[in-house]
Amino acid sequence: MTADHPTVLLISDRTDQSRELGNWIGRVCSCRSIALHERPGIAKDVAAVVTDVAFRDAVAIARLRSLLAPYRSTATPVMAVLRDNSHYEQVQAVALGATGMLPSTASSAEICRAVAAALGDARPATATNAAASAAEHVEQARLEFHGIFHAATCGENFTQAEVDNATSSVVETVADSGIRRWLDIVWSYDNATYQHCMLVTGLAAEFARSLGVSANDQKRLVRGALLHDLGKAKIPLAILNKPGRLDPQELTVMRTHPGIGYEILREQGGYEPEILEVVLRHHELLDGSGYPDGLSGSQIGDLVRLTTICDIYAALIERRPYKQPMPPTRAFAILQDMGSKLEAALVRAFTRVAESSAAPAAA
Ligand SMILES: [Fe+2]
Ligand SMILES: [Fe+2]
Repeated sequence: MTADHPTVLLISDRTDQSRELGNWIGRVCSCRSIALHERPGIAKDVAAVVTDVAFRDAVAIARLRSLLAPYRSTATPVMAVLRDNSHYEQVQAVALGATGMLPSTASSAEICRAVAAALGDARPATATNAAASAAEHVEQARLEFHGIFHAATCGENFTQAEVDNATSSVVETVADSGIRRWLDIVWSYDNATYQHCMLVTGLAAEFARSLGVSANDQKRLVRGALLHDLGKAKIPLAILNKPGRLDPQELTVMRTHPGIGYEILREQGGYEPEILEVVLRHHELLDGSGYPDGLSGSQIGDLVRLTTICDIYAALIERRPYKQPMPPTRAFAILQDMGSKLEAALVRAFTRVAESSAAPAAA
């Protein structure tokens, strides 16, 4: 975040939820998360404070009071996320200097919106609100994707309407917010598979848009991208989420995912042949060096060729805690170096997507 993004201090007494909330807030402004027991120095650039702490005992309350002390005599907004919405809790929040309260039922998106609203006095509201709104739309798309992927994991069916809804969410959000904002938000997802699939899907939406294809073809490309790695729903998590390289045995298992995804969709029925082809063939390469069947040239359809470019580019720019992110410009150079594996004209056409993904999101 740049200097014009104020910092929100998030004080929490829990870890997992705090991480998720911190990720959310981080999408609209810089967020510094600290645990209740930490002793941070006084940060001068704090524009708002969010507390996610249970007022369950005197020690916790005293600790929070001390952390909030530097902000008591300032105009810094302090928002308390409640745990049980009781009268006691609300009185305690006011006594600690909270200027706003959020009910225990507030979602991360709603808390994020409240932060954006609180920051409205400190910076132009449009920038934070646009970012908050984009974050909410991307989250909606992620939840829709999650529903589909989770159903596949459990061996349950999902409907065409669910796939269509998720597809429309991605197409509309990328069109409204731009690919760079989409990437900035999706990069914050901890779940590697969700991050990857949402990157590929967003890039496919932008690619189709930049190619100027019909709305129908755009949705077809995005639908294929959304479902391309569906077979990963059946790959063991130890392999799927392994940090670093897979060993040969693990790689063999991982490489079953195109066939698994194809079977899931074929059994459900109702999917166009091109979508099934994308799911089964997205790791095939034009020079015959891909998998699962080593197809080449004209054996690989247009929709697959487009999706494969988005898939490889997404894999290169994805962000993991254990590795340095690859700049989009470097990722595109690698795509260009793949020569006869990819269709050169389509890689050239992808230039605009690569450039848009390298540019900072518009305010
Ligand atoms: Fe794949
Ligand atoms: Fe993929």
